[in-house]
Amino acid sequence: MKKLTIQKTDRPKGKPQDQSKLGFGTIFTDHMLCVDYTEGKGWHDAQILPYGPIPMEPSASVLHYAQSAFEGLKAYKSPKGETLLFRPRDNFARFNHSCEGLCIPAIDVDFAMESLIELVHLDEDWIPTAPGTSLYIRPFVFATDAYVGVRVSHTYKYMVILSPVGAYYAKGLEPVGIYVENQYVRAVRGGLGSAKAAANYAASLRAGEVAKSKGYAQVLWLDGVERKYVEEVGSMNIFFKIKGELVTPSLESGSILKGITRDSIMRLAEHMGLKARERRIPIAEIFEASQTGDLEEVFGTGTAAVVSSVSELYWDGRSITVNGGVMGDFTKKAYDTLTGIQYGQLEDPFGWVMKI
Ligand code: COI
Repeated sequence: MKKLTIQKTDRPKGKPQDQSKLGFGTIFTDHMLCVDYTEGKGWHDAQILPYGPIPMEPSASVLHYAQSAFEGLKAYKSPKGETLLFRPRDNFARFNHSCEGLCIPAIDVDFAMESLIELVHLDEDWIPTAPGTSLYIRPFVFATDAYVGVRVSHTYKYMVILSPVGAYYAKGLEPVGIYVENQYVRAVRGGLGSAKAAANYAASLRAGEVAKSKGYAQVLWLDGVERKYVEEVGSMNIFFKIKGELVTPSLESGSILKGITRDSIMRLAEHMGLKARERRIPIAEIFEASQTGDLEEVFGTGTAAVVSSVSELYWDGRSITVNGGVMGDFTKKAYDTLTGIQYGQLEDPFGWVMKI
């Protein structure tokens, strides 16, 4: 490649009227990025096009065997009106890690950045400015071979779409109750758990429905072998504050997503003087720490929700309330500081924010 052609829409859509009512992921901007891959030719025909349906063979292998991965990041408007991205190269590094796990050819990170910046600039007016809103960026790739045999595809499409968003959860920042899942698992050692594979999210749906039917917002996933160690919460990484120390499951099992928000929170915690550690965390230890009064806070982290406070955990017939059911001090401080940095309202001592 890498010539990028741009076809601007001649029918711009109306932007959301009331930004305070923006939900998550239902509205899309005027343009999208499409790049094709053909074996022997590499990535080619990079185009920004008006947002719209894409032609697809019913036999496209992604529809049958889920050879597909995605990313999620956000663009923010700073108080000075600048457009900011948060650690975008880390997203593309993880994207290529996901691609490797799925036998999808890697994308050149410099090209991914340049084309993303071009797209965001084109739809810059879509970045909402109401508190807590941003432009969610969804890069994704999928196998397009018209072939229903099981094999690695020879052709792919890489795309980026943009969506102005508010809070990920309907209840915003309100702490949520979590169901610790004993039966279903999200991923196992040796599988695709560390990749942002579309299939991982499909695998999570059934347990999520069970949790919801029992009145819980999300599932807390345990390891797939022993159902003993904590892995993730819903589609997020999880943190516990125990006896003044922050802990999160270590990534060595290979079944946990290497969250960029997860890493940012660990570094922020250390910066704030709170020790942050990665280790295996037995779920029994969490319930015990609750009994002894040592469990102080629990929260999930991800790009979409940023930081999501947990008020209750239900496991095997027992329920514990965390921090009296309200958001803890560190959780609040972590949310405020991280979003402050992301929106360019607070100084960024880590060099995470990229002005574009
Ligand atoms: C995130 O927390 O950013 C996620 O991965 C959620 C996304 C699948 C909507």
